[in-house]
Amino acid sequence: MNFEEIKTVEDEFQLATYKKMDISVERGRGSWVWTSEGEKYLDLYGGHAVCATGHSHPHVVKAIQEQADKVLFYSNLVYSEIRAKAAEKLVSIAPKSVSKAFFCNSGTEANENAMRMARMATGREKVITFSGGFHGRTADSISATFLGKYREIGKPNVPGHVAAEFGDIGSVMAVIDDQTAAIMIEPIQSMAGVREAAPQFFHELRDLCDERGVMLIFDEVQTGVGRTGNWFFGGSDLADGVEPDIISLAKSLGSGIPVGACLVNNKVSDHIKENDLGTTFGGGMLAMAAVVATLEAIEQDDMIANARKVEQHLRDSLSGASGVVAVHGKGCLIGIEFEEACGPVHRKLLENNIITGTSSDPKVLRLLPPLCVTTDEIDLLSGVLAA
Ligand SMILES: Cc1ncc(COP(=O)(O)O)c(C=O)c1O
Repeated sequence: MNFEEIKTVEDEFQLATYKKMDISVERGRGSWVWTSEGEKYLDLYGGHAVCATGHSHPHVVKAIQEQADKVLFYSNLVYSEIRAKAAEKLVSIAPKSVSKAFFCNSGTEANENAMRMARMATGREKVITFSGGFHGRTADSISATFLGKYREIGKPNVPGHVAAEFGDIGSVMAVIDDQTAAIMIEPIQSMAGVREAAPQFFHELRDLCDERGVMLIFDEVQTGVGRTGNWFFGGSDLADGVEPDIISLAKSLGSGIPVGACLVNNKVSDHIKENDLGTTFGGGMLAMAAVVATLEAIEQDDMIANARKVEQHLRDSLSGASGVVAVHGKGCLIGIEFEEACGPVHRKLLENNIITGTSSDPKVLRLLPPLCVTTDEIDLLSGVLAA
């Protein structure tokens, strides 16, 4: 099928719930994708923050192929070597206090399970989240999302969700009470325009949670798995070393094979019993092979150090660039803030075969490239912005 045929059929048979770019992706390698028409695009959006290891990383592809040849799936009702390895590896790279992993299939599901575990661990129901945070589209997660129209389209909302202001501990203290089970935070608010809080804020949250017996959840669906130049935001310098009680993950975790996870400490795991949580597909062998290979590829190719290098290079090359007000974010989660709405820049980059993302802040262009993106590739972006 040529592009026009693909577009016609997809538009006819798929619900029109996505604003699509006018290209059809056929294959990918590293930071690049090729369209059905044979054109090459630099993907600085990483397939929507998913392809951390780059498109079709050979180590990940080999692991998936080999696993598919052995067995595609069996549920958690049996033991599995590859699941054991995935859980062990994740816990070993996580902040020190993390002791166990729970596997699911997506980011929204990871957050739903994180909130459920916090309620089970505390015997309370209320959850505090932050305006500007995005947590997913299933009932509980969308009710926790105080951003744009999301709570509205998720109605009726799950009760017990309240919002505080990102970075403002006073606003959290104003809504916390003896019914609060959890504070859940997207540590860098990606969709809101890559908004950051001071590291001190995470300390204040940790202290408040400890004082009040509340569980602290970091939604690291975007910031996790190396993206910020650290394996996780939790426990890193970015959080001033603060470790949450629960970390939720998805997106990059399987390099494109759907998989989510919650990482928890003993304060949480002590309260979770058989049949409290579960999902058919969570922990399936194919997804687990993708997790192990993703983490190995990041390690083997030194991608975490590369994410830091790329951030610095981007900041250097954009400093003083005309129309650029600020560069937000860390590692390979970057928001470029322009003086004016960035729609025309986004379109110009696409016309120059560079894929980037927008955000809910019209002036902020988002970059979520693979963690293996090179400084030469970043220069292609800077060149178009300067032209
Ligand atoms: C921070 C964050 N949390 C949760 C989600 C929901 O993840 P999923 O789309 O896999 O359900 C997203 C998705 O964009 C996200 O960015």
